[in-house]
Amino acid sequence: MDNTYVFYEGKIVPENEVHISVRCKGFNYGLGCFEGIRAYWDEGEQQLYGFRMKEHYERLLQSCKTLNIQLPYTVDELCKITLELLKKNNYRTTTYIRPLAFKGSNQVAPSLLDDDDRLVIYCQPLGSYAGKDELKVAFTSWERLGDNMLPPRTKPTAAYLNSGLASLEVVRRGYDEALFLTRNGHVCEGPGENVFMVRRGKLVTPPPSDNILEGITRDTVMMLAKEELGIEVVERSITRTELYAAEEIFFSGTAMEVTAVVEVDDRAIGTNHQGPVCKQLKELFMQVTTGKIKKYADFCMSVY
Ligand SMILES: Cc1ncc(COP(=O)(O)O)c(C=O)c1O
Repeated sequence: MDNTYVFYEGKIVPENEVHISVRCKGFNYGLGCFEGIRAYWDEGEQQLYGFRMKEHYERLLQSCKTLNIQLPYTVDELCKITLELLKKNNYRTTTYIRPLAFKGSNQVAPSLLDDDDRLVIYCQPLGSYAGKDELKVAFTSWERLGDNMLPPRTKPTAAYLNSGLASLEVVRRGYDEALFLTRNGHVCEGPGENVFMVRRGKLVTPPPSDNILEGITRDTVMMLAKEELGIEVVERSITRTELYAAEEIFFSGTAMEVTAVVEVDDRAIGTNHQGPVCKQLKELFMQVTTGKIKKYADFCMSVY
Protein backbone atom coordinates (compact mmCIF):
# COMPACT_ATOMS: atom_id res chain seq x y z
CA MET A 1 0.00 0.00 0.00
CA ASP A 2 1.26 3.48 -0.76
CA ASN A 3 2.10 5.85 2.08
CA THR A 4 1.99 3.06 4.67
CA TYR A 5 4.83 2.24 7.00
CA VAL A 6 5.72 -1.27 8.08
CA PHE A 7 8.34 -2.72 10.43
CA TYR A 8 10.81 -4.95 8.60
CA GLU A 9 14.40 -6.07 9.27
CA GLY A 10 14.60 -4.00 12.43
CA LYS A 11 13.33 -0.69 11.03
CA ILE A 12 10.14 1.20 10.30
CA VAL A 13 10.16 1.74 6.51
CA PRO A 14 7.70 2.65 3.74
CA GLU A 15 5.84 -0.51 2.71
CA ASN A 16 6.73 -0.10 -0.97
CA GLU A 17 10.44 -0.32 -0.09
CA VAL A 18 10.07 -3.88 1.22
CA HIS A 19 11.08 -6.54 -1.29
CA ILE A 20 10.80 -10.19 -0.38
CA SER A 21 12.11 -12.82 -2.80
CA VAL A 22 9.73 -15.11 -4.68
CA ARG A 23 12.06 -17.91 -3.52
CA CYS A 24 11.58 -17.16 0.17
CA LYS A 25 10.52 -20.22 2.21
CA GLY A 26 7.88 -18.30 4.09
CA PHE A 27 6.15 -17.76 0.74
CA ASN A 28 6.91 -21.14 -0.88
CA TYR A 29 6.21 -23.48 2.03
CA GLY A 30 4.36 -21.38 4.58
CA LEU A 31 7.27 -21.63 7.02
CA GLY A 32 6.11 -18.95 9.38
CA CYS A 33 3.61 -17.96 12.02
CA PHE A 34 1.70 -14.81 12.74
CA GLU A 35 -0.53 -12.81 15.04
CA GLY A 36 -3.62 -10.70 14.53
CA ILE A 37 -4.02 -7.80 16.95
CA ARG A 38 -6.49 -4.93 17.04
CA ALA A 39 -5.96 -1.38 18.16
CA TYR A 40 -9.26 0.33 19.04
CA TRP A 41 -9.93 3.98 18.34
CA ASP A 42 -11.81 5.97 21.00
CA GLU A 43 -13.30 9.05 19.34
CA GLY A 44 -14.16 10.73 22.67
CA GLU A 45 -10.67 10.34 24.10
CA GLN A 46 -8.99 10.82 20.69
CA GLN A 47 -6.89 7.81 21.63
CA LEU A 48 -5.88 4.53 19.96
CA TYR A 49 -5.49 1.51 22.26
CA GLY A 50 -3.51 -1.63 21.39
CA PHE A 51 -5.60 -4.47 22.86
CA ARG A 52 -3.87 -7.23 24.88
CA MET A 53 -0.68 -6.77 22.86
CA LYS A 54 1.42 -8.40 25.55
CA GLU A 55 -0.59 -11.63 25.34
CA HIS A 56 -0.47 -11.59 21.53
CA TYR A 57 3.31 -11.22 21.50
CA GLU A 58 3.73 -13.88 24.19
CA ARG A 59 1.76 -16.20 21.92
CA LEU A 60 3.87 -15.22 18.89
CA LEU A 61 7.14 -15.93 20.72
CA GLN A 62 5.78 -19.26 21.96
CA SER A 63 4.79 -20.16 18.37
CA CYS A 64 8.27 -19.16 17.16
CA LYS A 65 9.82 -21.42 19.78
CA THR A 66 7.78 -24.39 18.53
CA LEU A 67 8.63 -23.67 14.88
CA ASN A 68 12.34 -22.90 15.53
CA ILE A 69 12.07 -19.28 14.42
CA GLN A 70 14.37 -17.02 16.41
CA LEU A 71 13.34 -13.41 16.87
CA PRO A 72 15.72 -11.01 18.62
CA TYR A 73 12.95 -9.19 20.51
CA THR A 74 11.27 -9.40 23.89
CA VAL A 75 7.52 -9.00 24.38
CA ASP A 76 8.06 -5.46 25.71
CA GLU A 77 10.18 -4.51 22.69
CA LEU A 78 7.55 -5.88 20.29
CA CYS A 79 4.83 -3.86 22.05
CA LYS A 80 6.97 -0.71 21.85
CA ILE A 81 7.71 -1.25 18.13
CA THR A 82 4.00 -1.73 17.44
CA LEU A 83 3.00 1.46 19.27
CA GLU A 84 5.67 3.37 17.28
CA LEU A 85 4.43 1.88 14.01
CA LEU A 86 0.81 2.84 14.72
CA LYS A 87 1.93 6.35 15.60
CA LYS A 88 4.07 6.64 12.47
CA ASN A 89 1.05 5.65 10.34
CA ASN A 90 -1.00 8.20 12.27
CA TYR A 91 -3.98 5.86 12.44
CA ARG A 92 -7.06 7.45 13.99
CA THR A 93 -9.43 4.57 13.42
CA THR A 94 -9.72 0.97 14.62
CA THR A 95 -6.77 -0.87 13.12
CA TYR A 96 -5.69 -4.46 12.53
CA ILE A 97 -2.04 -5.29 13.18
CA ARG A 98 -0.31 -8.27 11.57
CA PRO A 99 3.07 -9.37 12.94
CA LEU A 100 4.43 -12.19 10.74
CA ALA A 101 7.58 -14.19 11.58
CA PHE A 102 8.97 -16.34 8.79
CA LYS A 103 11.93 -18.18 7.30
CA GLY A 104 13.47 -15.78 4.80
CA SER A 105 15.93 -18.24 3.27
CA ASN A 106 15.87 -18.85 -0.50
CA GLN A 107 17.24 -22.43 -0.27
CA VAL A 108 15.14 -25.16 -1.89
CA ALA A 109 14.51 -27.54 1.05
CA PRO A 110 11.52 -26.79 3.31
CA SER A 111 13.79 -26.80 6.35
CA LEU A 112 13.06 -25.09 9.63
CA LEU A 113 16.77 -25.31 10.48
CA ASP A 114 17.75 -22.25 8.41
CA ASP A 115 18.63 -19.26 10.52
CA ASP A 116 17.47 -16.50 8.16
CA ASP A 117 14.51 -15.59 10.38
CA ARG A 118 12.56 -12.39 9.78
CA LEU A 119 9.77 -10.36 11.24
CA VAL A 120 7.46 -8.01 9.41
CA ILE A 121 4.67 -6.04 11.09
CA TYR A 122 2.07 -4.25 9.00
CA CYS A 123 -1.27 -2.68 9.85
CA GLN A 124 -4.45 -1.52 8.20
CA PRO A 125 -7.76 0.03 9.26
CA LEU A 126 -10.39 -2.66 10.00
CA GLY A 127 -14.01 -2.15 10.98
CA SER A 128 -16.49 -5.03 11.10
CA TYR A 129 -14.86 -8.21 9.77
CA ALA A 130 -18.05 -10.20 9.21
CA GLY A 131 -20.01 -7.21 7.90
CA LYS A 132 -23.13 -8.41 9.75
CA ASP A 133 -24.27 -9.12 13.32
CA GLU A 134 -25.87 -12.54 12.82
CA LEU A 135 -24.14 -15.37 10.98
CA LYS A 136 -25.34 -18.55 9.30
CA VAL A 137 -22.67 -21.25 9.45
CA ALA A 138 -22.20 -24.84 8.30
CA PHE A 139 -19.80 -27.62 9.18
CA THR A 140 -17.14 -28.12 6.55
CA SER A 141 -16.21 -31.57 5.25
CA TRP A 142 -12.53 -30.61 5.78
CA GLU A 143 -11.16 -31.94 9.06
CA ARG A 144 -9.34 -29.59 11.45
CA LEU A 145 -5.60 -30.02 11.57
CA GLY A 146 -4.21 -31.89 14.56
CA ASP A 147 -1.52 -30.83 17.01
CA ASN A 148 0.75 -33.59 15.67
CA MET A 149 0.37 -32.42 12.04
CA LEU A 150 0.45 -28.65 11.86
CA PRO A 151 -0.21 -27.33 15.34
CA PRO A 152 -3.13 -24.84 15.19
CA ARG A 153 -1.94 -23.47 18.53
CA THR A 154 1.07 -21.88 16.80
CA LYS A 155 -1.00 -19.89 14.27
CA PRO A 156 1.22 -21.18 11.44
CA THR A 157 0.71 -19.53 8.05
CA ALA A 158 0.45 -22.94 6.35
CA ALA A 159 -2.55 -23.93 8.51
CA TYR A 160 -4.63 -21.20 6.92
CA LEU A 161 -4.92 -23.32 3.78
CA ASN A 162 -7.03 -25.64 5.94
CA SER A 163 -9.05 -22.58 7.00
CA GLY A 164 -9.28 -21.33 3.41
CA LEU A 165 -10.60 -24.66 2.09
CA ALA A 166 -13.27 -24.74 4.79
CA SER A 167 -14.43 -21.18 4.02
CA LEU A 168 -14.35 -21.80 0.28
CA GLU A 169 -16.59 -24.82 0.63
CA VAL A 170 -19.29 -23.28 2.81
CA VAL A 171 -19.28 -19.72 1.44
CA ARG A 172 -19.82 -21.16 -2.06
CA ARG A 173 -22.86 -22.94 -0.64
CA GLY A 174 -24.24 -19.63 0.65
CA TYR A 175 -23.19 -19.65 4.34
CA ASP A 176 -21.31 -16.86 6.09
CA GLU A 177 -18.64 -18.93 7.79
CA ALA A 178 -17.47 -22.51 8.39
CA LEU A 179 -17.15 -24.63 11.51
CA PHE A 180 -14.59 -27.42 11.85
CA LEU A 181 -14.91 -30.81 13.50
CA THR A 182 -11.82 -32.59 14.81
CA ARG A 183 -10.90 -36.12 13.69
CA ASN A 184 -12.83 -37.39 16.75
CA GLY A 185 -15.97 -35.54 15.66
CA HIS A 186 -15.69 -32.85 18.31
CA VAL A 187 -16.70 -29.27 17.54
CA CYS A 188 -13.45 -27.33 17.13
CA GLU A 189 -13.55 -23.71 15.92
CA GLY A 190 -14.12 -21.56 12.84
CA PRO A 191 -11.40 -20.85 10.24
CA GLY A 192 -10.27 -17.81 12.24
CA GLU A 193 -12.37 -17.72 15.39
CA ASN A 194 -13.30 -19.68 18.52
CA VAL A 195 -16.82 -20.87 19.19
CA PHE A 196 -19.03 -20.70 22.30
CA MET A 197 -22.49 -22.09 23.04
CA VAL A 198 -24.93 -21.31 25.83
CA ARG A 199 -26.49 -24.58 26.99
CA ARG A 200 -28.78 -24.87 30.03
CA GLY A 201 -27.58 -21.46 31.17
CA LYS A 202 -23.86 -22.31 31.13
CA LEU A 203 -21.31 -20.96 28.69
CA VAL A 204 -19.49 -23.88 27.04
CA THR A 205 -16.47 -23.80 24.73
CA PRO A 206 -14.14 -26.52 23.34
CA PRO A 207 -10.92 -27.14 25.33
CA PRO A 208 -7.37 -26.62 23.96
CA SER A 209 -7.07 -30.42 23.59
CA ASP A 210 -9.65 -30.24 20.76
CA ASN A 211 -7.04 -28.52 18.56
CA ILE A 212 -8.25 -24.95 18.90
CA LEU A 213 -6.13 -21.85 18.89
CA GLU A 214 -6.24 -20.59 22.46
CA GLY A 215 -7.82 -17.30 21.51
CA ILE A 216 -7.13 -14.13 23.41
CA THR A 217 -10.67 -12.93 22.72
CA ARG A 218 -11.88 -16.33 23.98
CA ASP A 219 -9.95 -15.73 27.19
CA THR A 220 -11.42 -12.22 27.53
CA VAL A 221 -14.96 -13.50 26.92
CA MET A 222 -14.57 -16.28 29.52
CA MET A 223 -13.29 -13.74 32.04
CA LEU A 224 -16.15 -11.29 31.37
CA ALA A 225 -18.79 -14.04 31.52
CA LYS A 226 -17.53 -15.27 34.90
CA GLU A 227 -16.62 -11.99 36.55
CA GLU A 228 -19.11 -9.51 35.14
CA LEU A 229 -22.15 -11.66 34.31
CA GLY A 230 -21.68 -14.40 36.95
CA ILE A 231 -22.20 -17.13 34.34
CA GLU A 232 -20.56 -20.51 34.82
CA VAL A 233 -17.99 -21.17 32.06
CA VAL A 234 -17.10 -24.74 31.09
CA GLU A 235 -14.30 -25.88 28.75
CA ARG A 236 -15.29 -29.30 27.43
CA SER A 237 -15.75 -31.19 24.20
CA ILE A 238 -18.97 -30.51 22.29
CA THR A 239 -20.58 -32.74 19.66
CA ARG A 240 -22.23 -31.56 16.48
CA THR A 241 -25.88 -32.13 17.40
CA GLU A 242 -25.37 -30.67 20.87
CA LEU A 243 -24.58 -27.44 19.08
CA TYR A 244 -27.94 -27.66 17.26
CA ALA A 245 -29.61 -27.84 20.69
CA ALA A 246 -27.83 -24.75 22.06
CA GLU A 247 -29.77 -21.73 23.35
CA GLU A 248 -27.16 -19.44 21.80
CA ILE A 249 -23.95 -19.73 19.79
CA PHE A 250 -21.35 -17.09 19.04
CA PHE A 251 -17.86 -16.67 17.65
CA SER A 252 -14.96 -14.83 19.29
CA GLY A 253 -11.78 -13.59 17.64
CA THR A 254 -9.61 -10.53 17.14
CA ALA A 255 -10.99 -9.91 13.65
CA MET A 256 -14.49 -11.35 14.32
CA GLU A 257 -14.77 -9.80 17.82
CA VAL A 258 -17.95 -11.24 19.43
CA THR A 259 -20.48 -12.18 16.74
CA ALA A 260 -23.69 -14.22 17.03
CA VAL A 261 -24.24 -17.45 15.09
CA VAL A 262 -27.99 -17.87 14.49
CA GLU A 263 -28.06 -20.90 12.22
CA VAL A 264 -25.93 -24.06 12.01
CA ASP A 265 -26.37 -26.51 9.12
CA ASP A 266 -29.73 -24.86 8.25
CA ARG A 267 -31.05 -25.30 11.79
CA ALA A 268 -32.14 -22.22 13.71
CA ILE A 269 -30.33 -21.70 17.02
CA GLY A 270 -32.45 -20.45 19.93
CA THR A 271 -34.69 -17.62 18.73
CA ASN A 272 -32.83 -17.42 15.38
CA HIS A 273 -31.44 -14.07 16.52
CA GLN A 274 -28.55 -12.80 18.63
CA GLY A 275 -29.25 -13.99 22.20
CA PRO A 276 -28.98 -12.02 25.46
CA VAL A 277 -25.67 -13.57 26.62
CA CYS A 278 -23.97 -12.82 23.32
CA LYS A 279 -25.38 -9.27 23.33
CA GLN A 280 -24.15 -8.52 26.86
CA LEU A 281 -20.71 -10.02 26.27
CA LYS A 282 -20.31 -8.10 23.02
CA GLU A 283 -21.18 -4.82 24.76
CA LEU A 284 -18.82 -5.54 27.67
CA PHE A 285 -16.06 -6.58 25.27
CA MET A 286 -16.35 -3.33 23.31
CA GLN A 287 -16.14 -1.33 26.55
CA VAL A 288 -13.04 -3.23 27.65
CA THR A 289 -11.25 -2.64 24.32
CA THR A 290 -11.12 1.10 24.96
CA GLY A 291 -10.34 0.91 28.66
CA LYS A 292 -13.85 1.84 29.82
CA ILE A 293 -13.90 -0.76 32.61
CA LYS A 294 -11.15 0.15 35.12
CA LYS A 295 -10.55 -3.43 36.25
CA TYR A 296 -9.36 -4.35 32.74
CA ALA A 297 -7.60 -1.07 31.87
CA ASP A 298 -4.22 -2.88 31.74
CA PHE A 299 -5.39 -4.68 28.58
CA CYS A 300 -5.12 -1.39 26.67
CA MET A 301 -1.87 0.32 25.62
CA SER A 302 -2.22 3.96 24.50
CA VAL A 303 -0.60 4.94 21.20
CA TYR A 304 -0.84 8.75 21.52
C1 LIG B 1 -7.93 -20.47 13.89
C2 LIG B 1 -8.23 -19.37 14.84
N1 LIG B 1 -8.95 -19.62 15.94
C3 LIG B 1 -9.25 -18.65 16.83
C4 LIG B 1 -8.84 -17.35 16.63
C5 LIG B 1 -9.17 -16.30 17.64
O1 LIG B 1 -8.02 -15.96 18.38
P1 LIG B 1 -7.85 -14.51 18.99
O2 LIG B 1 -9.04 -14.24 19.81
O3 LIG B 1 -6.60 -14.59 19.80
O4 LIG B 1 -7.74 -13.58 17.84
C6 LIG B 1 -8.09 -17.04 15.48
C7 LIG B 1 -7.64 -15.68 15.25
O5 LIG B 1 -6.51 -15.34 15.50
C8 LIG B 1 -7.76 -18.07 14.58
O6 LIG B 1 -7.05 -17.82 13.47
